[in-house]
Amino acid sequence: GLAVAGGAGAVAGAGLQAAASPEPPAATPEVGTVPLGSVGRQTVPFHGARQAGIATPTQRQAHARIAAFDLVPGADAAALRSLLQRWTTAAEALAAGRPASDRTDTMTADSGPASLTITVGFGPSLFGRPGFPATARPAALTPLPAFRGETLDPSRSDGDLGVLVAADDAVVVYSALRTLEQLAAGVATPRWQFAGFTRGRGVTTNEGATVRNLMGQLDGTRNPKPDEATFGRQVFAADGWMTNGSYLVVRRIRMLLDDWEKLPVAVQEHVIGRKKDSGAPLSGGVETTAANFGKRGADGQPLIPADSHMRLATAAFNSGAAMLRRGYSYADPLPGGGVEAGLIFLAWQADPRTGFVPVQQNLVAGNDRLSRFIRHETSALFAMPGGVANGEYFGQHLFE
Ligand code: HEM
Repeated sequence: GLAVAGGAGAVAGAGLQAAASPEPPAATPEVGTVPLGSVGRQTVPFHGARQAGIATPTQRQAHARIAAFDLVPGADAAALRSLLQRWTTAAEALAAGRPASDRTDTMTADSGPASLTITVGFGPSLFGRPGFPATARPAALTPLPAFRGETLDPSRSDGDLGVLVAADDAVVVYSALRTLEQLAAGVATPRWQFAGFTRGRGVTTNEGATVRNLMGQLDGTRNPKPDEATFGRQVFAADGWMTNGSYLVVRRIRMLLDDWEKLPVAVQEHVIGRKKDSGAPLSGGVETTAANFGKRGADGQPLIPADSHMRLATAAFNSGAAMLRRGYSYADPLPGGGVEAGLIFLAWQADPRTGFVPVQQNLVAGNDRLSRFIRHETSALFAMPGGVANGEYFGQHLFE
């Protein structure tokens, strides 16, 4: 309670000084007992039928950067292939905790990969570049349609190549992506990059539970789960060179937190359709209880409002549309002392035309109550191909 040591509290809380002189907080016994390097040593297998970083690790890592690159003029299919080979060699090494260059060696020599994953794919604009005829673009990689009411920043949208780097350590993430940028020199140039975070491993007392976003809500409750029979077909593609790949929708969504935080919790709960503390649907039960959209309160109104985010987004009202949402929070300082914060929304699906697109259209058409408190600022779509087998390189099947 009041026994918090600290400058700001002590100065601003002048009235508190009358209280008995506070005991210094007892040393937390757990500090120092975390085995050194235990988080850093963790690895996620790089090779496999599916790329790492989509459904593995099951609990997403604490830090991520998502970046887009554009091919330089004149770069052709052979140049991109050799870049993908260099990226593969580097990613294999880094994910296993081996150095990929002198520089990353120095940066990460005293840790390990910290569950590093590097996931690579292709944007719609690649098709049309030399060696990549537009006709070779999968139909599922059709650019996303414009959605009513949004103003996107083109300089931070789209891109020929997309790379998601995630790990339980921000230094590992930074170093890995820096290495990929250096290996791209002469072939592809960085277009945009976002950095995000979620809870760290070993930090919360309920690890593995749904994590809260910066609005304070449990976010991810109704995600497809890897142990469900439908998971594979909802999240992973099954045809051509995209077999076992997944389509990634990236949206930097700013939260209007000054407005949001003024709302009473009960109003916030009606925006989403769930209790803020427990994540339970407003129709009752606990977080995992199925929502009952037909249930009405004493006033005759549905307990879960018809224009709540959850009601408009749920698969049952969107022809079964499903996607795996594994976004990251961001909170970036602005010049002048402010902060812009929100969600780097990352959604994985077998096909965005039956995943993200109809759901977002329904959110817009239904005037999602959440839309008053968020702004979609950027958008990108990438085809993230199937996994890299031993001896293969990222996206190899595109070139066959
Ligand atoms: C559900 C927050 C944007 C699709 C939820 C839930 C929250 C939430 C708190 C309820 C818990 C859960 O099931 O995860 C947000 C925030 C957003 C955002 C803060 C923006 C900053 C989006 C967008 C889409 C989307 C852009 C897709 C177009 C979904 C889906 C569900 C969901 C499919 C599950 C609905 C269900 O079946 O119950 N979101 N969301 N969300 N959201 Fe969002």
